[in-house]
Amino acid sequence: MSYICPLCSNLLQLEGRTWRCENNHCFDKAKEGYVNLLPVQKKSSKDPGDNKLMMQARREFLEAGHYQHLSDRVNELLIQYLKSKSSTLLDLGCGEGYYTGRLSQACPDMRINGLDISKTAIRLASKRNKSMEFCVASAFDLPFASSNFDAVLRIYAPSAPEELSRVVNENGLLLTVSPGPRHHWFLKTLIYQSPEEHDESDSIIKGFERIHTERLETTMSLSGSRDIENFLNMTPYAWKLTKTQKNKLSDSGLECELDFKIQIFKKI
Ligand SMILES: C[S@@+](CC[C@H](N)C(=O)[O-])C[C@H]1O[C@@H](n2cnc3c(N)ncnc32)[C@H](O)[C@@H]1O
Ligand SMILES: [Zn+2]
Repeated sequence: MSYICPLCSNLLQLEGRTWRCENNHCFDKAKEGYVNLLPVQKKSSKDPGDNKLMMQARREFLEAGHYQHLSDRVNELLIQYLKSKSSTLLDLGCGEGYYTGRLSQACPDMRINGLDISKTAIRLASKRNKSMEFCVASAFDLPFASSNFDAVLRIYAPSAPEELSRVVNENGLLLTVSPGPRHHWFLKTLIYQSPEEHDESDSIIKGFERIHTERLETTMSLSGSRDIENFLNMTPYAWKLTKTQKNKLSDSGLECELDFKIQIFKKI
């Protein structure tokens, strides 16, 4: 895996705990092991990406296993589609590292990198997965040399097609997870007068052809108030529901549709 310098695009070399380019731009590893490759001048805000409350809610919610079937299916598909056990993979917008961690357990020889624009997320991910490389950076300006990865995994995260296509090697794969039409439908009916199904606009990604698509549809039942609070806080719904609505959900429990759309694309 080769990082490139976010300031001049030359390759970075690791010297001790410092990544350095030939123009002497330096990026120190944090004590947790990750490196911050998002220079201040490229930050859109002081604390970009998902915030601490969202991340902690996500960590607790995922740890409770509510989305484990998605993680299992993603791992199965990657094992099936990737030819080599020691493939290189980038988890783009990896968040606090739940999917990355489970993938690494399922495929111990895979060389996995995680990237997210949120420092809080990367700190949590890095603490949990000591053997992996994590960096804070933007999905729109990836700090990797071209043709660096056999695959990119993108679960609910933004990306730019040109950057995806640049960093995967010839015939490289992209596995994406995005909301299917019925995802979180019940909650949407509470928030919107005329809720709309998620559209299909993410089925075409420039520079890639789609080779597989499936929907993973289940109903999730949450009864514990902590689970429900975490679920709402890790999504944008927390801001859209009234306090009364949230209390009511906490008291009565919640049954909600999960509809994950999994797609695999191959670089053309
Ligand atoms: C909905 S979360 C998904 C996180 C993780 N993949 C998961 O499913 O648990 C979206 C993630 O994308 C990150 N993100 C948002 N904008 C980004 C950007 N421009 N570059 C990289 N990551 C970004 C957020 O910080 C957040 O961790
Ligand atoms: Zn440089």
